[in-house]
Amino acid sequence: MPGIVIVGAQWGDEGKGKVVDLMAERADAVVRFQGGNNAGHTIVRGDETFKFHLIPSGILYPATRCVIGNGVVIDPKVLTDEIDHLRDRGVDVSGLRVSANAHLIMPYHLLLDTAGETRLGKAEIGTTRRGIGPAYADKAARLGIRVQDLLDEKILKKKITAALYPKALSLRPYERDPSLDLQSMTEEYLTYGHRLEQYIADTSRLAWDSLDAGRLVIFEGAQGALLDIDHGTYPFVTSSNPVAGAACVGAGVGPRDIDEAWGVAKAYVTRVGAGPFPTELDDDTGEMIRTRGGEFGTTTGRARRTGWLDLVALRYAARINGLTHVAITKLDVLSGFERVKVCTRYRGAEGAQFEDFPYHQTVLHQSVGEYVELEGWEEDLGTCRSEADLPRAARAYLDFVADWIDVPIALVGVGPGRDQIIWLGRDAPTVAAA
Ligand code: GDP
Ligand code: IMO
Ligand code: MG
Repeated sequence: MPGIVIVGAQWGDEGKGKVVDLMAERADAVVRFQGGNNAGHTIVRGDETFKFHLIPSGILYPATRCVIGNGVVIDPKVLTDEIDHLRDRGVDVSGLRVSANAHLIMPYHLLLDTAGETRLGKAEIGTTRRGIGPAYADKAARLGIRVQDLLDEKILKKKITAALYPKALSLRPYERDPSLDLQSMTEEYLTYGHRLEQYIADTSRLAWDSLDAGRLVIFEGAQGALLDIDHGTYPFVTSSNPVAGAACVGAGVGPRDIDEAWGVAKAYVTRVGAGPFPTELDDDTGEMIRTRGGEFGTTTGRARRTGWLDLVALRYAARINGLTHVAITKLDVLSGFERVKVCTRYRGAEGAQFEDFPYHQTVLHQSVGEYVELEGWEEDLGTCRSEADLPRAARAYLDFVADWIDVPIALVGVGPGRDQIIWLGRDAPTVAAA
């Protein structure tokens, strides 16, 4: 102990990478527990920017073990490329460990993801097309290929054959695609197996060993609560569970091993891909937030949809994650607005009002935000390092948010840099004492 889980509290891209990097310095291990290379986590360190898709955001600390847990779906090409890229930049990746039980993204998953989106046409989900959904579907159908299968040619071939058989129909248009050739696919994946063998481990045991020794373990989430396949805006979600509870399953630890659940939220909201977004701003203000916040996807480069902070959704995220702390990032992006709005209620069709996140999809699709207007601030926040440095209106904004969701804000981001943060002293985090 302690175990701290860090999750996205909105629709992803909240700045989880930066928060995990901050905490990782004191951690014995950082464990990614779900998602795959649909994630894009950015860390800015001095003049250097790192973008991670699969490797946990603690890798920049040589003493911190970085674990890809069993709940992650791994594209081995992406992983080996990421390892090579980091090595080229002088980062020591010897502390990386990959769960033998994690499932693999196969070439046919990529094709099926694209085929599925094409079939949906205008109703597409807007996936990252990285094969995430089809890989998790195969896991549930017990047709998945796992990391450990890479180490045995006979088993690998047998499992690929079994997995490909029921897909033959959907993949007919790609029949001649070279990536589907059984022999070359097996050989390619065996090569990945040789490359990754040194990293493969019983990662559940590793996490337990650290926790048992009383060391800090960070469980790193990808995506965000509203993209959760059970609790998010289904079907416009990802195919895993980004909520805090999933850290146990995806890392192989028990609920008692998690001491704190940190939710990361921007001071406004963004979303990539399709689906309901009650506070979306389809106007100049939305464009201004996008430009100032640099809101373009880390993974796909797509422009992110933008909107005012949604406290109905954030309060919901606080509840389903059992959040003990919140980190508010990108407060600096809101500088220069005369008034800033926060959504405290939804208005549905025919004027119905909702203070709680609606469980029914139709209601959510029809909902728009109702807002409280707060005083804005002009000052650039990039150099603020303590609560006292913040303009009064920015402090009032944070107080309003914390009161509304009833979770303390422990950390505030005022820029992408490592040092551009404010720890809110009134709630010194466990990590500071670890
Ligand atoms: P993640 O997927 O949750 O890790 O977030 P992303 O890395 O996809 O997107 C967050 C972006 O915001 C990155 O480009 C970060 O460098 C940047 N960022 C993080 N915190 C702050 C902050 O407090 N202020 C500003 N301006 N940028 C930030
Ligand atoms: P990080 O970890 C933002 C979105 C996609 C799409 C939906 C389903 O960087 O916060 P998928 O490829 O997962 O089947 O796509 O989920 N999505 C993300 N949006 N940040 C992410 O990750 C995302 N990962 C997936 O845009 O709407
Ligand atoms: Mg991201």
